[in-house]
Amino acid sequence: MKSKKYTIVTYGCQMNEHDSEKISWILENMGYIWTDDKEDSDFIIYNTCLVRENAELKVYGQLGALKDLKRKNPDLILAVCGCMMQREEIRNIILRKYRHVDIIFGTGNIHKLPQLINRYHQSNETVVDVVEDNREIVENIDANRKYSFKAYVNVMYGCNNFCTYCIVPYTRGRERSREPENIIEEVRSLAERGYKEITLLGQNVNSYGKTLSYDYTFANLLEDINKIDGIKRIRFMTSHPKDLSDELIEAMASLDKVCEHLHLPIQSGSSRILKVMNRKYTKEDYLRLVEKIRNRIPDIALTTDIIVGFPGETEEDFNETLEIVKKVEYDSAFTFLYSIREGTIAARMENQIPDDIKQERFQRLLDTLYPIFYKKNLKYQDKVVEVLVEEVSKNNEKVLTGRTRHGKLVHFEGDKKLIGQLVDVKIDNVKTFTLEGHII
Ligand code: SAH
Ligand code: SF4
Ligand code: F3S
Repeated sequence: MKSKKYTIVTYGCQMNEHDSEKISWILENMGYIWTDDKEDSDFIIYNTCLVRENAELKVYGQLGALKDLKRKNPDLILAVCGCMMQREEIRNIILRKYRHVDIIFGTGNIHKLPQLINRYHQSNETVVDVVEDNREIVENIDANRKYSFKAYVNVMYGCNNFCTYCIVPYTRGRERSREPENIIEEVRSLAERGYKEITLLGQNVNSYGKTLSYDYTFANLLEDINKIDGIKRIRFMTSHPKDLSDELIEAMASLDKVCEHLHLPIQSGSSRILKVMNRKYTKEDYLRLVEKIRNRIPDIALTTDIIVGFPGETEEDFNETLEIVKKVEYDSAFTFLYSIREGTIAARMENQIPDDIKQERFQRLLDTLYPIFYKKNLKYQDKVVEVLVEEVSKNNEKVLTGRTRHGKLVHFEGDKKLIGQLVDVKIDNVKTFTLEGHII
């Protein structure tokens, strides 16, 4: 019998990317094989994100466009999963307006996919299965990872912080930490298969361990993973400034495999706005924390997330954001226009900022950030950096791309056999977002 083919389209963060790798593993165990071509697929899954409106709108657009394909190929199964599906009002929209969707599942029951497919085959009706209150941790699902040398590993799920703008606590459930032995075992098995770089994932890795029944912190976890032979680099995402402990800074400074990069979302430079966002730190707290980190790890690369146009943000508040990014001098930043998310506290705030003001501030923020990124990159000019080679450049097949320990993207000429290897590259030229060099 001909193998069935599947496609997964993924939106959202690393958490979702990694969930898609797990879905892929489950489907391949069922005998499905990957295809890039939707027209040729027997099974298409959309793994969705709800963090901002544009992510949500894209999914509706894509689903609408699949109506024709479904008509042409009635055997095609169409599934939608991920963060959007955790919201009942969105599931109802899908059930009402996108009746050609066959399977709907959520972020907490990926492991049930084979059963859901069976249920669909038996009933031929739309199957909906969502765990409303995600509390469980499911082990024993492997992942069909995109790369063979760097891997995402979940350390915790969910979030308890309820930043007032953010939908994630409502889509991923309450915070829960995986048992350290399960994480260590997974990393060990990845190391045995030749993986060199591990990125530990959690919405707020600094509070790792709080739900365990004994004392064990994220710093302890880093120490244990640092001991695993074969692993060369350890990264993690994301750190909430309110929870970043001295113990963790110490661990980062002393453990040789932990990379010199910290993603430390600030969101806003105004203490007043930070309070309304429920971030639980002030501008001064954040600056003190940065100083402490830089004192201990002087050459650390700092990156961040910033939201522009949160409800009630005044020109003064926004100027404080510009000031703080100049003070901290970030290596890179993800910048977002505030997006109203139904169900969050900020969505009900009255003083929403008009789009044109948001846009104008956003542009000013980028104009402030880009010269800083460039300046930060300049310090690598003529220096030799260690690069983990990741792939062939999309624009030039002679050029390889990879990342330094500091997370900098590097372009250089080389043979694609080097993919997955650590090489030394001398930097000849720097740009705002990339470094260019040659292998030495
Ligand atoms: N747990 C991570 C990030 C999760 S979402 C953390 O706390 O850092 C990633 C980023 O999306 C957030 O840091 C925030 O900057 C942005 N974001 C979240 N909700 C948003 C919204 N409603 N509008 C615009 N940006 C948002
Ligand atoms: Fe969202 Fe805040 Fe939790 Fe991050 S810490 S996922 S921004 S609620
Ligand atoms: Fe990630 Fe989007 Fe969900 S950012 S956790 S995929 S809402």
